[in-house]
Amino acid sequence: MGKILKVGILTSGGDCPGLNSVIYGILLKAFDAGVECVGILKGWKGFMENITIPLNIAEYDDLHTIGGTLLYTSRTNPFKDISKLKSEEEKEKLKEKIAKEMISKFNELGIDALIVIGGDDSLGVALSLYQYSKANVVGCPKTIDNDLVGTHYTFGFWSAVQLASNALDNLTTTARSHQRVFIVEIMGRDAGFLTMYSGISAGADIILIPETPFDLEKDVINILKKRVNKGYKYHIIACSEGAYPDNESLKRDFKTISKETIDNLPKDMFGNPKLPVLNISQILVDELNLRDDLKEEFLKNGVDFECRSVVLGHTMRAGTPTSFDRILGLRFGLAAMKLVLKGDFGKMVSLQGNKIKTFPLDEGVKKKYITPDNDKMELRDLLVKIRYLSKQK
Ligand code: F6P
Repeated sequence: MGKILKVGILTSGGDCPGLNSVIYGILLKAFDAGVECVGILKGWKGFMENITIPLNIAEYDDLHTIGGTLLYTSRTNPFKDISKLKSEEEKEKLKEKIAKEMISKFNELGIDALIVIGGDDSLGVALSLYQYSKANVVGCPKTIDNDLVGTHYTFGFWSAVQLASNALDNLTTTARSHQRVFIVEIMGRDAGFLTMYSGISAGADIILIPETPFDLEKDVINILKKRVNKGYKYHIIACSEGAYPDNESLKRDFKTISKETIDNLPKDMFGNPKLPVLNISQILVDELNLRDDLKEEFLKNGVDFECRSVVLGHTMRAGTPTSFDRILGLRFGLAAMKLVLKGDFGKMVSLQGNKIKTFPLDEGVKKKYITPDNDKMELRDLLVKIRYLSKQK
């Protein structure tokens, strides 16, 4: 390997607090090692179209404390045409062709190595680039969803948990004042980490996540009835944007959507369904409003049934990173630059316990979900159940 003189950095996919912390960590080590850094703007778009800025650390004091990304971001997928092909052989050939074309960009950009800061989709592009053309790439796992196998936590996750938990906490005062049910929709795509952690943290009364498709009757309506019967006058439901009813419940309990509604959602450039379009929290509000039995149960207990949906949406990714994410971001940036200096490519940096380790990109970019043996599952179920069971009316 030739000497590394210049390193490109790009941030890709949905932004999150801590991206700038990683960039600053990279810049600190790069300056110390005498390596020049160049910022590639708007993720893979800037890489393909050669849109860059110089990165002089002297201009960015305390960059790690600022949310968002200095380098802008986009959901550009250079391999997007592959999904249009049918045969695996054709797909392989096109992948190889695109990866070979992409490697020429290293020369155009004048970089010897590339650090990609992104989630499973963006790091998947880095992986293809490495697999098909042995490019000098290193990955750094980012996402508020925390859904990557290769690291115990991604940066951005705990900042988002804190924001969602605060929002759930805060909503209890207005829920109490109006004696309402609030269904709070929380990002996370098809992984429930963000909803689960924030829901438990804030003590939400019902927590719905994609990993455990719910039964509307059993997991929502019956719980609300039991709670109102025990004297609870307001209720907070933390609902993942990717939560969905199981098939039986969908057929039996739902009037406003069917399986086709879920299957036919539009997709983004990486083929992910655009879950916010479904707006599951509002669907739940509509379904609950159709239930006279639920309204009667509330009325019997002196409460007019009123239900509202709140979509936390992009507020989850907004603002400054928590101290945990600032430090994790800096550690990831430092470790990524060290991998580059060692010439250890095709890897991603990773948090294992409290240690920063490395992980092969091909294993690390796989998606992670909450598994049934996770103690958070048990905690959630106890939180929901024991409240109303232990209460004397
Ligand atoms: O992957 C991160 C994430 O914030 C998801 O939780 C969410 O579904 C998605 O990005 C939203 O993406 P966009 O910013 O493109 O609407």
